[in-house]
Formats: sequence, C-alpha cells, structure tokens
Amino acid sequence: MNAASVALEPGDGGTASYARVKSDELDTRHGAILYLDEITVSFDGFKALNKLTLDIGVGELRCIIGPNGAGKTTMMDVITGKTRPDSGSVFFGQSIDLTRLSEPAIAHAGIGRKFQRPTVFENHTVFENLELAMKTDKRVRPTLLAKLSGEQRDSIHATLELIRLKDEVRRLAGLLSHGQKQWLEIGMLLIQEPKLLLLDEPVAGMTDAETERTGELLNELRGRHSLVVVEHDMDFVSGIAVGGKVTVLHEGSVLAEGTMDQVQSDPRVIEVYLGR
Ligand SMILES: Nc1ncnc2c1ncn2[C@@H]1O[C@H](COP(=O)(O)OP(=O)(O)OP(=O)(O)O)[C@@H](O)[C@H]1O
Ligand SMILES: [Mg+2]
Repeated sequence: MNAASVALEPGDGGTASYARVKSDELDTRHGAILYLDEITVSFDGFKALNKLTLDIGVGELRCIIGPNGAGKTTMMDVITGKTRPDSGSVFFGQSIDLTRLSEPAIAHAGIGRKFQRPTVFENHTVFENLELAMKTDKRVRPTLLAKLSGEQRDSIHATLELIRLKDEVRRLAGLLSHGQKQWLEIGMLLIQEPKLLLLDEPVAGMTDAETERTGELLNELRGRHSLVVVEHDMDFVSGIAVGGKVTVLHEGSVLAEGTMDQVQSDPRVIEVYLGR
C-alpha cells in the first residue's frame, strides 16, 4: 500500500471485494512463513534472479545483503507480485503460491512492503497518517468516516511509542525529518498487522542517530513480526542480525547464509561484497 493508492481510495462504505486470504488461514505448521523455490527472473536474457531458493521462518528477522545488482529488490518485487518470475514458486505459508496472486491480493494476504522513499501524507498529522493507514486496511471494511474505537486508539498509541513519534503526534508529517518519515511509514505498515514485512534499505539517508534508533525499533519487532530487511549499511546489519541469519545474494542466487560472523568471514563474501 502506498500513499498514492490510499489517496485515490477514500473509504466508500465498503463495496470493494478482494480475493483475500485471511491471516488465520495461513498454514505455517512447518515453521516457514515464506519459501522461494528456484525463482528465476530474466530481463532481456539477463538473469536478475537465478534459481533463487530461500526460506524465512515465522517471527524471524532476516537480513539480506549483497552487491548492487545482486537481485535483492527484484526478489522483493517477486514476493509482492510486482514482477512475475519466469519459473519457480513463492509460497506464503504452506499452501499459498504468491506467483498466482495479484499484487493487491498479496498485500491483502498480509505482506507489507516499505520502499526506499518514504510515502506519507505530508499534509496530515502523524496521528492522522496512522489513522488513515488503519482505516484503509483492506482486510477490514473501509470505514474512513467512522470514529475510532478504543481498541484502535490504543493500537495507534502503541505504534506511536514503537516508532518514537509520541511527541510528534500532532505535527504535520511533511515537517518531520527524513528518518521520522521512514518510521512513520513503518508504523503505517505495522498498524495493518502484516504477517510479513519487507524493508528495502530502510536506513538509507538517515543520520547515524536515526539509524541506531531504527535498529532498536527492528529489534523490538523481532519475534512479533516476520521481517526481511535489505541493507548495505553493515554496522546497522550487525546490530539487527544478532542471533539471527544473514543471507548474501550474488548474481541472483544465495552465495552464503549464516550468522553475521559466519558470512563476514566467508572468503567468497569478502571477495564479491565486503572486501570492495
Ligand atoms: N525492470 C528491469 N528491467 C531490466 N533490468 C532490470 C529491471 N529491474 C532490475 N533489473 C536488473 O536486474 C539486476 C538486479 O537488480 P536489483 O535492483 O534487484 O538489484 P539489487 O540487489 O536490489 O541492487 P541494489 O543494491 O543496487 O539496490 C540489475 O542488473 C538490474 O539492472
Ligand atoms: Mg535494490
């Protein structure tokens, strides 16, 4: 969901119907929330993804690193239905093949994506942005004009605390710093309770202090949400990869996978990426 699509879809009483998958229908008995099976994507004969196989566990915070052009963003495009693979499958839970669902259906199934550029409603306050995100959640009946329930208010306040914007609640989003806008957008995604959240370079353009706070925020989400984070900032990755796995992509496939220490000391990873 991006701001533009929200702006074009004011709540209209809920006539739209979507091929949606209820989150409680997601079968994750085998522990994986996402499984990419031999995904290949070609652009004019060039393989951006080459039999990419990868799985993400429920509640896992997975970091994906790798050189420019490795296929990291293309991987997210495939998961979210923006790009169709030439071959391979993407399973969300045990039985939902995402390559057969439309982009909106995938979002409604519970996959949220944060693009690099923040897309918030600049002329609305922080609170209103969260309220709009909550009310345009297509998994519930759109009720933009209805009053918030106590539970919804609590949820907004809990999110404000998490994204460190409690003191900015009445501020126009357009007046926030770049980092604060990024947090707000993360909050707008979280409030829709995604089963899986994809973040592409979340700390690009942030100050050091903002980067550090973003690391803390993501560490708080570990175990509560399943997250895939693509980043080039290795200090940041080290801070959120603690106890978790890092996957290194190179030329469209997995080059290495393991703890941060393991991949950092892998000679192949040093050669293609870290030693540059
Ligand atoms: N729509 C497209 N048409 C043609 N080529 C594309 C398209 N999208 C991506 N590519 C190419 O596919 C390769 C993988 O790109 P991708 O954006 O996935 O890399 P990345 O790992 O995200 O890199 P970065 O770290 O720079 O963001 C690159 O060579 C890129 O030029
Ligand atoms: Mg990219």
